[in-house]
This record gives sequence, C-alpha cells and structure tokens, in this order.
Amino acid sequence: MAQLWGGRFTKETDQLVYDFNASIGFDQKLLHEDIAGSVAHVTMLAKQGIVTKEERDSIIAGLKSIEEDVEAGSLAVTSQYEDVHSFVEANLIERIGEAGKKLHTGRSRNDQVALDMRMYVRGHVKRTDALIKELLSVLYQKMEENLDTYMPGFTHLQKAQPVTLAHHFGAYFEMFKRDRSRMRDIYERMNYCPLGAGALAGTTYPLDREYTAQLLDFYGPTLNSMDSVSDRDYVIEFLNALSIVMMHLSRFCEEIILWNSDEYRFVEMDDAYSTGSSIMPQKKNPDIAELVRGKTGRVYGALMSLLTTMKGLPLAYNKDMQEDKEPTFDAIETVENCLTLFTGMVSTMKFRRDVMAKSAMNGFTNATDAADYLVGKGVPFRDAHGIIGKLVLYCIEKNTSIDALSLEELQGICDRFEEDVYDAVSLKTCVEKRLTIGAPGSGAMREVLEKYKEYLEGSDAE
Ligand code: ARG
Repeated sequence: MAQLWGGRFTKETDQLVYDFNASIGFDQKLLHEDIAGSVAHVTMLAKQGIVTKEERDSIIAGLKSIEEDVEAGSLAVTSQYEDVHSFVEANLIERIGEAGKKLHTGRSRNDQVALDMRMYVRGHVKRTDALIKELLSVLYQKMEENLDTYMPGFTHLQKAQPVTLAHHFGAYFEMFKRDRSRMRDIYERMNYCPLGAGALAGTTYPLDREYTAQLLDFYGPTLNSMDSVSDRDYVIEFLNALSIVMMHLSRFCEEIILWNSDEYRFVEMDDAYSTGSSIMPQKKNPDIAELVRGKTGRVYGALMSLLTTMKGLPLAYNKDMQEDKEPTFDAIETVENCLTLFTGMVSTMKFRRDVMAKSAMNGFTNATDAADYLVGKGVPFRDAHGIIGKLVLYCIEKNTSIDALSLEELQGICDRFEEDVYDAVSLKTCVEKRLTIGAPGSGAMREVLEKYKEYLEGSDAE
C-alpha cells in the first residue's frame, strides 16, 4: 500500500478497507489527464515563484517519463497505489527525489480529480461529436442516393402515407444533429478549470488560476472553490446526452431489425454485420443492431447511477463522488463503440428499392391522396374521406389496390372520378407533390440536403 497520507494514523489500514477505498483499478484511465494537469500546475507554480525553474523542469521531465513508461508497458499501474494521483506522485518522488514532493503544493486531490474528470469528459464530448458527424456523413450520402426510393411511412406501425428512404433517414439526421448541438452546448458550459480550488476553500499560495486554465485550454477558472470540487453536473449532462444518442440509435436499430426481417425484406444487412445460428442453418441475425438496442439500458443506468449518487451530497467533496467514474467510463466506451459499429452497419447495408416501393403501393398509402383528389373535384373533405373509406373496403374484399381498379369500378362508388385519378394517386405523385419544406417530395428534400451539406462543412463542437 502506497498512500499519500498516514501521518495522523497509528494503525495500518485494514486490507479490505484499503481495497474498498481504492480507485486505482479504474481511475488509471485518467493518467494522461492527471499528468497534463500536473504539468500545467507546476508550470504555474514556477511562474509564481512557488517552486524554482529547476524544480519545475525536473518535475515535468519526471512526469513525462512516467507517462512514456506506462505507455511503453515498462511501468505497471498496480493496486499497490490507492489511486492514479498517488501512483504518479509516488513514482515521481522515486524518480526525481525531493523536488517531486513539491508538486502537490497548493493542490488537493479534490481539485485534481475534478480537473482530471473534466478533461477526460471534455475529450470524449469532442470524440462523440466527431463520431456522430461521421454517421451524419453516411446518412447524408444515403439520402442523396435515395431521393426516389419510395417506401411506406408508418404511424402506429401501420402503413400511413408514402415517403422516401431519404426522407426517413432525414428524420434521423435531425435527431443526430440535435445530439451534436447538445455536445457543443455541454462543452461551452463545462469548459472552465477547477484547478486551484484546493480541497474546498482555495489556497493561501498566490496561484495564477487564469494561467493554469489557459495552459489547459479552458475558457477560464471556475469561480467558486466549493462548487469546483463538488460539481459533476457536466458528467450528468454528458450522460444525459449520451442516453439520448443511444435512444436514437436504438430506435434506428429497431427499424433496421424490422426492415431486415423476412416480413419486410426492405434491407439486407451485410454479412460482416450479421451472425448465424448454431442450430438453424438458414439464419442470418441482425445481432449488431440488437446489441446496440440492448446496450442502451446500461447507458441510461449510468445516468441514473450518478444522479442518485449526487442527490444527497452536502458541500463540498465527498467520497461518494468516486462512484462517478466506472459508470461514466463504461457509458463512454459503449456509446463510442455503438456509434462506430452502427455507422459501419448502415454504410454497408443494401436497400431493396423494389420491395419498398411495392410495400408502399400495397398498403393504401395513397388513400389520403385519393380523398384529396375528390376534394379537387369539389367533394367536401369529410365526404371524400367516407367515400375513400368505402373504396378501401371494396379493395380489401377484392384483394386489390385503389390504382388497380377500373374507372367504371371507381365511378360506381363516386361519379367524380375521372381518368386523371390514376396519375393523382400514383406512388410517385403522392410523394412528389409533397413539397412543403420538411416533406418527402424530392424538390423539398433537395433544398434540405443543401442545408445539410453546409451544416456538415461547418465547425465542430468546441
Ligand atoms: N479517488 C478519488 C475520487 O475519485 C480522488 C479524490 C480523493 N480525495 C479525497 N479527499 N480522498 O474521487
């Protein structure tokens, strides 16, 4: 056991207590942030004359060598240390001696871990944003290719009105666009540096907090030292945003699973993203989509876990907050993997245009347009609705579709039908006449794609 405290203790810590208390098993993930934070801290200490330039240089060289050796695998992060902060400091002192003992001047592990966690989350806010952007680029490309891939649009999972694949993907484009804007938003609010808050009440050393903030690419220092060490709002916000990303991915996966089923046959998943069954030779299962859908639960779990951990905490730091790490790390890894796999799955998926169009034609998705046609011929909408309802019933009995009926049959139900009805209720017309912005008609969709193109060329979260 190598720990940073012990002066006031007369007994060794019980091993069980030590293990229970330790966080090295998971907070070693923060090694790079911890070292970057320490380099900035000591750089500031030297600028303020709190340590000498020689001490600074030796500390920085020591810190870098620790980082390099861990990366190279020649230095192991072991459970002999309580946490990553103790690991770094103990190794530093071992390597450079006396000067190493000065690194922690004017700092507490409370502001240190607050900084590490903030930098870690900040990095992954950017990474998530970049991964969503990659997914959006794939969706954009699929949209461009499928402006006239007609398919049924659903409400209540019942065929409703025809749309296009481009339009359907566009709905997800909007969702993921909002996810990115949440990332940017979180970044803006969280990007303030807690270092220098000390244990909770700042320090008596003349620290230059503006300077450390600047060295670490923050907008500035946080303004209340108690809040600085006990704020995990940004983690909660991030987990919330990640939960929403997962909810979107999960909905998309659910649709893909349906589309890939034998009942729909709208898409064919690439072999690389499917798996077989050990017993049923005919099976090609959409496991990746199912797993992404399934993993949504654990990300929601992380959010609930941290909200619950934080809810009763008095100011300022409490050890409960160590529990922020494992669920957060797990959620981050989960979402990043899901985004990467999902993007690959969509980009390799094949779309069966003919099956989709046929499905759109079979489900009376043109019934609204047929009613609108009668409105155009002077029938009040409510009456037209009733007439088309009867027509649908007639078609169901005869196992046919509106556009397959003869003009005589149509006129048998309403004498306002004329030859131009066929064009009016054709799949193409039904979609292409929907031209208000946001609608599936390719004219409207092209305008939207133009905006999406500009959007993708725009700046990233930061
Ligand atoms: N491992 C701790 C955490 O993750 C670091 C801070 C420890 N501070 C303390 N006062 N014991 O929260």
